[in-house]
Amino acid sequence: MPKEIVLSGIRPTGFLHLGNYFGAVKNWVRMQDEYDCYFCVVDWHSLTTHPDTRELRGHVHRLLGELLASGLDENKSVIYIQSDIPEIAELYLYLNMLAYKGELEKTPTFKDKVRQHPQNVNAGLLTNPVLQAADILIHRAVKVPVGKDQEQHVEMTRNLAERFNYRYDAVFPLPYAFNYGESLTKILSLDGTGKMSKSANEMATIYLNDNDDLIRKKIMKAKTDSGPTEQGIPKPDYIQNLFTLMQLVSHYDIVAQFETAYENCSIRYGDLKKQLAEDMVEFIKPIREKAAAIENDKTYLTKVIKTGAEKARSNASKTLELVRKAMHLNYV
Ligand code: TYM
Repeated sequence: MPKEIVLSGIRPTGFLHLGNYFGAVKNWVRMQDEYDCYFCVVDWHSLTTHPDTRELRGHVHRLLGELLASGLDENKSVIYIQSDIPEIAELYLYLNMLAYKGELEKTPTFKDKVRQHPQNVNAGLLTNPVLQAADILIHRAVKVPVGKDQEQHVEMTRNLAERFNYRYDAVFPLPYAFNYGESLTKILSLDGTGKMSKSANEMATIYLNDNDDLIRKKIMKAKTDSGPTEQGIPKPDYIQNLFTLMQLVSHYDIVAQFETAYENCSIRYGDLKKQLAEDMVEFIKPIREKAAAIENDKTYLTKVIKTGAEKARSNASKTLELVRKAMHLNYV
């Protein structure tokens, strides 16, 4: 029986951070053994907000290094760069005719980006979710492993796929956002001001490229308070976030010990942060070192990029053939 198809993407706009890693990449690594996986570095997406492309090549190489160091395997998955697959652009064009200005303007990520870049509200930014839909539908993917912030984009992809199937022919399966846990992940910024992101406060975002001391420094500066005053009091979200990170990198017994200390109000956040910092250093160090080595191995990177492009194009062109046929765009 053919395996289900998985697709996900990541923008090459900066170093990989813990939000990317735990929200998405960790699942990608695990999915490689169970599914037919496509993972894409979405360089076209980055142009909507980062028009200066002089550093793009370096960013793409670094991101590939980090993804491979995190456990993506080019022998198990198709790992490729979006702009190597012109078929995506053609599907984007068709899907744009099925997307409405009103629904695009209402997308929360569009509103956020308008707030962040008021001087550059370009059409690509508005139709960014349509490009994302093309990324997913070009491989007729069913599962889309993403963090919580991308949920609505996947929902919009589903709507566009349904619209296409209804108007033309049943070409696309309907895709869903996926996470191995019960719900999609959202890692908060360490200063407690929203999600951890590439564009937010650098000192509140932990990157896989941070050195040991910087990791310690960032975690020790994370927002806390004077601690719980009554038993059974729920954790504020910035404290829960530290526990979430701890669950991801620390030993089960250690997490349990701090959970009990929180419950009986004896917790000392300084101790929690010291423990978390050391476990985080242990977790990040091997990935950082491996990523640096891969980033400098241009022969290997070239091989990964070329093989990925070939495999992704081959599958994408099959979908495009079905799409053109369904749309009666065949004249000979
Ligand atoms: P991007 O590049 O912003 O993020 C890549 C992945 O990381 C997840 N993520 C987070 N998860 C939890 N907590 C956080 N703080 C956090 N920050 C980021 C994102 O949810 C995402 O899964 N538009 C997408 C890229 C994209 C894509 C696609 C994704 C383009 N085409 C097709 C899936 C399928 C984006 O900007 O992700």
